[in-house]
Amino acid sequence: MKNKISIIGVGYVGLPLALKFQKKNKVIAFDTNLQRIEELKKGLDVFNDQKKNYIEAAKNIKFTSSVEDIKNSDFFIVTVPTPVNLNKKPNLKPLISATSIVGKNLKKKSVVVYESTVYPGCTEEVCLPILQKASSLKINKDFYCGYSPERVNVGDDSHKLENINKIVSGSNKFAIKKIYDLYSSIIKAKVYKVESIKVAEAAKVIENTQRDLNIALVNELSIIFSKLNIDTNEVLNAASTKWNFVKYKPGLVGGHCVGVDPFYLTYKAEQIGYHPKVILSGRNINDKMSYYVFKSVLKKSKKLKINIKKSNILIMGYSFKENCSDIRNSKVTDLVNCFIKNKISVNIYDPLVNIKHLSKKHQNIYLPTINNKKKFFDILILAVPHKVFINNFSKTYNLIMKKKKLLFDIKSALPKNKYFQDTL
Ligand SMILES: NC(=O)c1ccc[n+]([C@@H]2O[C@H](COP(=O)([O-])OP(=O)(O)OC[C@H]3O[C@@H](n4cnc5c(N)ncnc54)[C@H](O)[C@@H]3O)[C@@H](O)[C@H]2O)c1
Repeated sequence: MKNKISIIGVGYVGLPLALKFQKKNKVIAFDTNLQRIEELKKGLDVFNDQKKNYIEAAKNIKFTSSVEDIKNSDFFIVTVPTPVNLNKKPNLKPLISATSIVGKNLKKKSVVVYESTVYPGCTEEVCLPILQKASSLKINKDFYCGYSPERVNVGDDSHKLENINKIVSGSNKFAIKKIYDLYSSIIKAKVYKVESIKVAEAAKVIENTQRDLNIALVNELSIIFSKLNIDTNEVLNAASTKWNFVKYKPGLVGGHCVGVDPFYLTYKAEQIGYHPKVILSGRNINDKMSYYVFKSVLKKSKKLKINIKKSNILIMGYSFKENCSDIRNSKVTDLVNCFIKNKISVNIYDPLVNIKHLSKKHQNIYLPTINNKKKFFDILILAVPHKVFINNFSKTYNLIMKKKKLLFDIKSALPKNKYFQDTL
């Protein structure tokens, strides 16, 4: 075995890393969530991202919640969540707590790599002091540090860890070399060295900020075009015939990355006295899209003379994006809440979502199957176009939408006009 590598936080990002590194190294997969560790020991990834037999075959991983196990590691890779608080400010509690655990167990010559998404400066300003204090060791003399952002794309089979270019940075040249060699052993794509940790942190945060803003722009366009009675998709298709027009689709922006990371950047900008206007404005538009969808469904129902309060409504898809089971910060929740607040009941169908993950409030409106042929719907909202929905859509549609009243295809995933659907 080459190195002892401790992965701190074995979630969506940590687990695939642990599975890859264990092929040639001894891996300690450490997580403070005891239930998660117990499940992983049984080969169970409740996120359904990694297959049971693949986890069970990984003989060089130790899944653990015991800090004793991470002692004497050559590398620590931190992959804990970096969410925002209710006030949209970074919640660094998991990162700080993981860093003090690592600090207390650091040995001389260890390398600590952060993969969690943060704002530029966070690793050196927040994490490094904790590592030094907890370990009584000195950076670049006794131990090394670096940042290598994660880019995995949940639900996207064509972009997997090993074929995504990986940015690496380090606290000095030696650290960069060590981190470069480490990732080169598992990444088939390019491992790209950058000159500072801040550059790597900033690169990650702007990737998602750019995506957020691009979607915000088309969302705003779709609002304008709807008022003008112009089909947004037709406009986007037409504009896309120009060589430098980049095509994005309107839709809901949820999850723990694209809808969250821009707030890390804007927080840092505010800290240094600059109030970002464009980024926050885009966030504001995207955060209000669930309400806009709700209002659009109401408007359309009224036009079609559908009494929405007496209608059977089905929302298809509950995860934050297509082809994944992750419901964290799903904007479909906001959409469901708009209906509930207005005393309109809805049914939700998402075969990818584990019912255990649903909040108590939403459990009673979850339909585990739609095979019940007696259940027909007047309004169907295709919120998340999972492949399993799209591949078999005609069948489902004919089965459950007998009256064929209103179909709202939020992301324009269905062939145009086939079901006389409405879209954003
Ligand atoms: N999921 C993605 O697609 C993705 C993509 C790119 C970047 N990221 C970033 O990677 C980071 C991790 O995201 P994730 O989706 O894997 O999160 P996750 O919630 O799936 O997993 C994080 C794990 O860390 C554990 N944890 C929390 N605090 C801990 C602590 N103090 N010590 C040990 N374990 C602890 C949690 O129990 C959890 O199992 C975040 O910063 C995220 O923004 C995620």
